Amino acid sequence: MIITDSAIAQSGILERVTHMLKDAVEWELFDGAPAEPKNTDVDEQKERFGSDYDALLALGGGSPMDFAKAIAIIMAHGGSLGDYLGEGSVPGPVIPIVCIPTTSGTGSQNTQTTVFTIEGVKRGTSSEYIRPAVSIVDPELTMELPSLVTRNSGYDALMHSCESFLARPHSHVAERSILYQGSNPFSRSLSLEAFRSIWGSYRRAVTEGHDRGARMDMSLGSHLAGLAFSHSGLGLVHALASALGGMVDEPHGVCLAACTGIGLKYNLGACEKDFAVLAGIMSEIDKTSPSNVSAETYVENMLDLARDLGFPSRPSEVGLEKGDAEKLLKNTLVQTRRTKTNPRDLDDELLLHIEKGI
Ligand SMILES: NC(=O)c1ccc[n+]([C@@H]2O[C@H](COP(=O)([O-])OP(=O)(O)OC[C@H]3O[C@@H](n4cnc5c(N)ncnc54)[C@H](O)[C@@H]3O)[C@@H](O)[C@H]2O)c1
Ligand SMILES: [Fe+2]
Repeated sequence: MIITDSAIAQSGILERVTHMLKDAVEWELFDGAPAEPKNTDVDEQKERFGSDYDALLALGGGSPMDFAKAIAIIMAHGGSLGDYLGEGSVPGPVIPIVCIPTTSGTGSQNTQTTVFTIEGVKRGTSSEYIRPAVSIVDPELTMELPSLVTRNSGYDALMHSCESFLARPHSHVAERSILYQGSNPFSRSLSLEAFRSIWGSYRRAVTEGHDRGARMDMSLGSHLAGLAFSHSGLGLVHALASALGGMVDEPHGVCLAACTGIGLKYNLGACEKDFAVLAGIMSEIDKTSPSNVSAETYVENMLDLARDLGFPSRPSEVGLEKGDAEKLLKNTLVQTRRTKTNPRDLDDELLLHIEKGI
């Protein structure tokens, strides 16, 4: 079963894939994968899939890939998607999932997670059983990606590379879990390489979409970042953005940008050295003076980039009000798979940062 969305189905990309499958395998098409899926979207479609397919091929951005992972769980184990929330709740294998990403963002083709909104909060299910069996990452498929989607999905990849690198070291993560274990030499090297690729090419991919080199770097960077964070976990910016994403109808990348100021400023004191490492890479790529290498310049450069690309710089620019601070905090604290690897413990000061940053 090929799972995609209607825009990909009409864009010519689907045809390029089905043309290759033509006489090799029998396939059917589901082109109704919703953008940023909700648990109810999956539950409503589950009858359509039954349990009769040998494999799923997800073609598209994070939304169709995550939809396919969620459907695979229900096909194999029944019930509703809400039954499988969190980590370790998928009881056994699912049919093989093959992913062909058409955005350079989520890295879902490389992760063991499906993200969906449930009761107004973006949550997810993580399990090694849903890590794709095979992924084909071809930058050619992103050449016609509209500038706005390039911007939004690219910011996701950028923030994966940053937050994976900055994640709390694995030896300091409570429970010493395997899933989202904290940063480690494997994830840190992948995330740095991802950050280099993305920082060097993201603006160009947004403004000059036909630049092959930029598209290649974004495909590679987003893929490596997905692999990195699927091991290390992420941090506060993602936790805040997932909370915000359940409260307003905005793409994941936009929510991340709107929460970057709050998240990075809260973490600043806890990761000055690592912020400066990222500032050093920025300075090398942007050819700025070495005096620009400090934790503060990392934060400033990130905020400048988001502003230059026209992102909202705070949650109030996407509809939140001062009075929503406590709800945003409450919905952030339930994002435990993100908060447990944040480099700084979440304490009472977070509410002050949210109130100020909204
Ligand atoms: N599973 C994970 O590990 C993970 C990680 C991060 C984010 N996510 C989730 O992924 C989702 C976002 O995914 P996304 O940013 O890739 O966007 P998306 O899949 O929602 O796609 C955005 C839009 O771009 C269009 N599009 C995609 N590729 C195109 C192409 N090549 N040409 C033309 N149009 C194209 C789609 O049709 C859609 O309209 C969110 O739900 C987010 O929470 C998942
Ligand atoms: Fe993300």
